[in-house]
Amino acid sequence: MGNNLLKGKKGIIFGALDDKSIAWITAEKCVEEGAEIVLTNAPVALRMGEIQKLAEKLNAPLIAADATSEEDLNSLFDQSMEAFGGKMDFVLHSIGMSLNVRKKRDYSNLNYDWMLKTFDISAISFHRVMQTAMQKDAINEWGSILALTYIAAQRVFPDYSEMAESKALLESFARSFGYHWAKKSHVRVNTISQSPTITTAGSGIKGFDDFFGYADKMSPLGNASAEACAEYIATLFSDYTRMVTMQNLFHDGGFSAMGMAPEILE
Ligand code: NAI
Repeated sequence: MGNNLLKGKKGIIFGALDDKSIAWITAEKCVEEGAEIVLTNAPVALRMGEIQKLAEKLNAPLIAADATSEEDLNSLFDQSMEAFGGKMDFVLHSIGMSLNVRKKRDYSNLNYDWMLKTFDISAISFHRVMQTAMQKDAINEWGSILALTYIAAQRVFPDYSEMAESKALLESFARSFGYHWAKKSHVRVNTISQSPTITTAGSGIKGFDDFFGYADKMSPLGNASAEACAEYIATLFSDYTRMVTMQNLFHDGGFSAMGMAPEILE
């Protein structure tokens, strides 16, 4: 049972692939909290078929959009505004993919065409989404825009490879765009830096399972789950957090503040 935290709010959720996806669990949470949503993912993800089940369960329109295509994003926002009968209040960008990681290229031997594609999918898409929404005046005053990120933007996690730079770029877009949107119409923009989470994207990183255990021990509260992340996102889409903008918010059980954990020494 929700608390009607998002009653009357409407928004688009990018990136639900299967029931492990942070976006999938967030979509369920937002609807439970009273929101009306549109689900979207890349055409290839729609062909896999899982997301249709979520759309049916939540009674949400499902619209295909490659987040690197301006044409697709234009059509997504047009169709969403039609479905909502007007503007919306929130957007979740939950998209990440690295070609060099997927193809197991070493960090000191990266393919630059793949790197550019990685940046396009994982970071520039966030700017594209925001620019499209702003130009269409699709977001209500005091709306909330979020993207998911990882602490490898600030510190070295060797196997995260070029995703580290993708996340640094993503976080920078949140700050810069957040300024312009706050001034224009009080829309806020933030990133959430989430604990390692067992999902398709997460498990693609080399040594993920061992690292997951390490991070869990290093975090005094343990790793934050996808469910806890969904709850945090719901608060950030709500009116209770309307003065928070241009921030990178750590949702990691305390990991980012730790220097040493005795559990690891043992
Ligand atoms: P996921 O694999 O379930 O989600 C990634 C999504 O990106 C998929 O739904 C995929 O279809 C979508 N996507 C890929 N290319 C796309 C494109 N061109 N257009 C539109 N969508 C596209 O994995 P997860 O973990 O839920 O990832 C969501 C976000 O959370 C990502 O930004 C990821 O980097 C971030 N994150 C994940 C962590 C983890 O350990 N799983 C930790 C911290 C952040």
